[in-house]
Amino acid sequence: MNGQQVILITGCSSGFGRLSAQTLARQGHIVFASMRDIGRRNATVRSELDDLAKSENLNLQVIELDITNDFSVKDAVTEVIDRAGRIDVLVNNAGVLYVGVTEAFTIEQVQRQIDVNFFGVIRMNRAVLPHMRRQGNGLLIHISSIAGRAVIPFFGIFNASKFALEALAESYRYELSGLGIDSVIVEPGPYGSNLIASNSEAEDRTRLAEYGNFAELPMKILAAYNEYGRDPQEVADVIAQLIDTPAGQRPLRTICGLDFQVKDINKATEPIQRSIIEAAGLQSLLQLTHN
Ligand SMILES: NC(=O)c1ccc[n+]([C@@H]2O[C@H](COP(=O)([O-])OP(=O)(O)OC[C@H]3O[C@@H](n4cnc5c(N)ncnc54)[C@H](OP(=O)(O)O)[C@@H]3O)[C@@H](O)[C@H]2O)c1
Repeated sequence: MNGQQVILITGCSSGFGRLSAQTLARQGHIVFASMRDIGRRNATVRSELDDLAKSENLNLQVIELDITNDFSVKDAVTEVIDRAGRIDVLVNNAGVLYVGVTEAFTIEQVQRQIDVNFFGVIRMNRAVLPHMRRQGNGLLIHISSIAGRAVIPFFGIFNASKFALEALAESYRYELSGLGIDSVIVEPGPYGSNLIASNSEAEDRTRLAEYGNFAELPMKILAAYNEYGRDPQEVADVIAQLIDTPAGQRPLRTICGLDFQVKDINKATEPIQRSIIEAAGLQSLLQLTHN
């Protein structure tokens, strides 16, 4: 047990984010459950979490945060530091899913998808890292996907965003290891949440029409994936377990749920990665150093 942690989670209006906020607050942590638009669209979730905090006497605070907006990111992290004095854990959870014929997504749609799933994480990490470096410790948790390691047809843009996220999180792991800051990746399989329901379809109708009936396949695949959906609490429990694991002992990647053998990809790439790092004479970066 690592004691009471100050934890900031992105995307807490639903799914893994909301469940993680509740779970971690119930375990005695100081939790900042962030979400967009707490005054209107997400006002009901906000008041439900406020009520829960009151009724169970939890240190669970809802704050406004849109990870695609630099000012919002800066304000939210400042709010956490002002209220709690430090930040121990960032859970990069917020994400969106665009599924469809890859060619038929407009550039603007691709940019929106990557802005949330990749640039949003860069914004968040850049905002919290100066505080973690000053503290000499910290934990970055990145919610990727098995789609961050294996490709699903019609998930091309989502795949690209999560592959990019995996590379970023792994690079951070090595670069921050000497500063006492840990970077880990969670790779969920399919779970029931709002993610599939909030899927954005490809907007270039002309291109879509040129694919004929083939263009109907993505929705069939999504429906099939929906069938696999397991209890999303499993992911919240994995996040809690990682926070509870002592620094230096956390695995880089943790899969939860159905993995379709992605664990074999992780196992196969580990020695390759290690040999690349060792060849560069950087083996000291493979182990987290405590400050
Ligand atoms: N469910 C799965 O099967 C599955 C599998 C693998 C990985 N994942 C990953 O798990 C994470 C959570 O997904 P979920 O399944 O819990 O889906 P979810 O219920 O749809 O939750 C996604 C959250 O992200 C938020 N969000 C979207 N854009 C945002 C932005 N610009 N700024 C801040 N928050 C934003 C949404 O908030 P709003 O209410 O404001 O839209 C929502 O709270 C995602 O990164 C997803 O890729 C999910």
